[in-house]
Amino acid sequence: FLLFPKMLSAWWILLSVLAVVSGSSVCPCETPQLCQQIQKEREFEVFVFDVGGKTWKSYNWNMVTTVAAFGDYDAELMCFAHSKGARVVLKGDFHLPYIVDRANRTAWITKQISLAKSQFMDGINIDIEQEVDKGSPEYFALTSVVKETTEAFHREIPGSQVSFDVAWSPKCIDKRCYDYISIAEYCDLLFVMSYDEQSQIIGDCIAMANAPLKQTLKGYEEYLDLKIHYKKLVMGVPWYGYDYPCVNLSQEGICYIPQVPFRGAPCSDAAGSQKNYEWIMKQLKSSSGRMWDDEQQAPYFNYKDQSGKAHQVWYDDPQSLCAKANYVMLKGLRGIGMWNGNILDYSDDPDAQNQTTQMWNALLGC
Ligand SMILES: *[C@@H]1O[C@H](CO)[C@@H](O)[C@H](O)[C@H]1NC(C)=O
Ligand SMILES: *[C@@H]1O[C@H](CO)[C@@H](O)[C@H](O)[C@H]1NC(C)=O
Ligand SMILES: *[C@@H]1O[C@H](CO)[C@@H](O)[C@H](O)[C@H]1NC(C)=O
Repeated sequence: FLLFPKMLSAWWILLSVLAVVSGSSVCPCETPQLCQQIQKEREFEVFVFDVGGKTWKSYNWNMVTTVAAFGDYDAELMCFAHSKGARVVLKGDFHLPYIVDRANRTAWITKQISLAKSQFMDGINIDIEQEVDKGSPEYFALTSVVKETTEAFHREIPGSQVSFDVAWSPKCIDKRCYDYISIAEYCDLLFVMSYDEQSQIIGDCIAMANAPLKQTLKGYEEYLDLKIHYKKLVMGVPWYGYDYPCVNLSQEGICYIPQVPFRGAPCSDAAGSQKNYEWIMKQLKSSSGRMWDDEQQAPYFNYKDQSGKAHQVWYDDPQSLCAKANYVMLKGLRGIGMWNGNILDYSDDPDAQNQTTQMWNALLGC
């Protein structure tokens, strides 16, 4: 009677030692099945960036298919997502000049695979957003790292997903001249960041929409013109906007903004500050009220700060988002997603709950 439990605990110690030696870790979920990586493909991707905290508990889990975990590792999130059939993927980042070196590149990939395995993750989202010149060593290394990462993940974690974040257009936005065609071919999907579209303002230095509809859709046409398959494209929409201090606010309601150059352009959205939808909805209450710009198909409002200075806020709301989502449906793109999932007001305030429900629903169009 006494021997039996002792043998069991000896076995347990032996197994734990073996687990540590072999590099695997103990499943933190309620059942070991929840640690198994997701293999099932779903028709339509809803790709959510999560930046940490626990608001993921309030996501619409009937919709979410992939969570890119950009916050600290959260085992509870991984277990929960798996219980809903959703993938959780690592954030992949590196200093581009380092991975030109093949050995460094392989070392980076090996490290990501082992991290993904030990955390029971379902893939990786590569987010580098660095400047690259066409034809440079970095240009080729970037394509190689995507190819090699995808091959390694698919081999080591069957069913895993490798995605790559690209700017709203493939035309060297912010000097990101990547080999988009090859990158799209080698990874599972491109997350198109259809926001920060005023990062390089060439004309008048004025406040404009974060993601004007026409400009946004032009970006997709440019990806499709490269013969990148529509099923490789996930549309990324912003759940945040920009608050611009106006140098002057004209009678016509045009907000002139301070000159802040960015990557070769004289003005940029860097003159404003990014604000969450939650903040925007609160500020809207003490403002000019919501206005709508027909040309850009986006809402905006003006307000005065405590020192009396005029501000103009441009953002996306269910009306502007659903027009973009309609395009996703019309073109049969792979899916939609947002930066980021955490920035709605998930409190139990009834107004906030209404807003939150509508923001999620807008992802499916109208
Ligand atoms: C390899 O990466 C390390 C940092 O991880 C860096 O210090 C080193 O310079 C890189 N080597 C090359 C040849 O790029
Ligand atoms: C606002 O500023 C812009 C740019 O500095 C200038 O061209 C314009 O005349 C100004 N408008 C007013 C009403 O002051
Ligand atoms: C939710 O908000 C929309 C406008 O954004 C409004 O039309 C609707 O009546 C609201 N619903 C509730 C239950 O408050």
